[in-house]
Amino acid sequence: MINPLKGMKDLTFEESQRFVHIVTTAIAIAKRYGYSYIETPILEQTALFRRSVGESSDIVGKEMYQFVDKGSNDVCMRPEGTAGVVRAFVSAKLDRQQSAKYKFYYYGPMFRYERPQKGRLREFHQFGCESFGEGSVCEDFTTIEMIGDIFRELGIGYTLQINSLGCQECMPPYRENLVSFLDTHREDLCEDCNRRIESNPIRVLDCKNEKCKSILIESPKLIKNLCENCSSDFAKLKELLDSAGIGYEVDTNLVRGLDYYNKTAFEFVSSEIGAQSAIAGGGRYDKLVEYLDGKPTPAVGFAIGIERIMELVQMPEVIREGYYMGAMDEESVDMLFPLASSKRATDKVTVEYSAKKLKAHLKGADKVNAKYCAIIGEDEVRDGLIWIKDLDLGEEKRVPIGDF
Ligand code: HAM
Repeated sequence: MINPLKGMKDLTFEESQRFVHIVTTAIAIAKRYGYSYIETPILEQTALFRRSVGESSDIVGKEMYQFVDKGSNDVCMRPEGTAGVVRAFVSAKLDRQQSAKYKFYYYGPMFRYERPQKGRLREFHQFGCESFGEGSVCEDFTTIEMIGDIFRELGIGYTLQINSLGCQECMPPYRENLVSFLDTHREDLCEDCNRRIESNPIRVLDCKNEKCKSILIESPKLIKNLCENCSSDFAKLKELLDSAGIGYEVDTNLVRGLDYYNKTAFEFVSSEIGAQSAIAGGGRYDKLVEYLDGKPTPAVGFAIGIERIMELVQMPEVIREGYYMGAMDEESVDMLFPLASSKRATDKVTVEYSAKKLKAHLKGADKVNAKYCAIIGEDEVRDGLIWIKDLDLGEEKRVPIGDF
């Protein structure tokens, strides 16, 4: 038997229904917020992720599904959706439209060669949204509000964590400050942190090692060193969340694992799914369009990890729908097809191809959750009738085949 690769899995039956419910719910809400669908390739040039997600990130450094294709191109299975959407935005020259605003949603598989564990897969699915052209922090608020709507509709509880990562004005002096602090603690910090002091010191703030965490309590906080503009934007975001009644925690060490963020960064976490608790993450990335050769365009977005919320989703009650159709003798089976064809114009129809006794047909109808069981037997053929049972009400009747 050939099994799926480690860290990858099939979604069938119950899980696939959950998947469809999550995606359709998220799409309906994204549309209400003015988003339209975008589809980008799963395979992209490796350079795209190096430049956007960042050389120093774990994703690019350790986790890429990267290979050289038959045309000697260095390619990569997308580890996330934002880079591809930004590339598509620039490829379509949408960045050249003066002050135009574009909002895209997408969903699909992402690939990260991580150590598989509960909630951490090598192939997983995201539902994401990216909004281009709106620099106001009101868009950050609206993005967060939309995720809240999606989780509420799916019946999922969460904690929202927010932070500001500053901008090109306030981040560089802060980084210097942080490096001086980290330099004095090199001996007590873990190996990873020591490496990051050189490559990306901000990521040190995100270290999960208990000893590092205790040292970092004393570290300088960017939130206290934001420039005037970043500071007033962050205050406005909190004010808008407060007035909308959306609860949040300010986590000054929330830095995210991808390098493209500035200003607002956020994560939605759940306490019900174990160590891999982030169910959605995102933020502002005002410089990424430029990094990918487009005209300066502010942008903000997020992605929800579909597998992470799969068990948390409250599924709507299953309701019986449509018809199950069967015959009690072989000769009548073919009569079912034209009847099924016309019924399918409006209803879900399942046809049983083998002739069976009534009891077996009723069981079959129950199994496919049909509302009606419609059967043709010898008597019905003789009288030109079809027998129908409403499985919700338990009522039976015979109707002329022409009226079915
Ligand atoms: P991210 O935080 O790397 O952000 O991923 C978003 C979500 O994907 C996470 O919160 C988590 O639920 C899920 N996820 C990540 N890795 C795995 C994994 N190995 N297995 C299962 N689920 C996983 C991004 O990807 C950004 N592109 C989000 C964004 C969009 N920022 C701006 N726009």
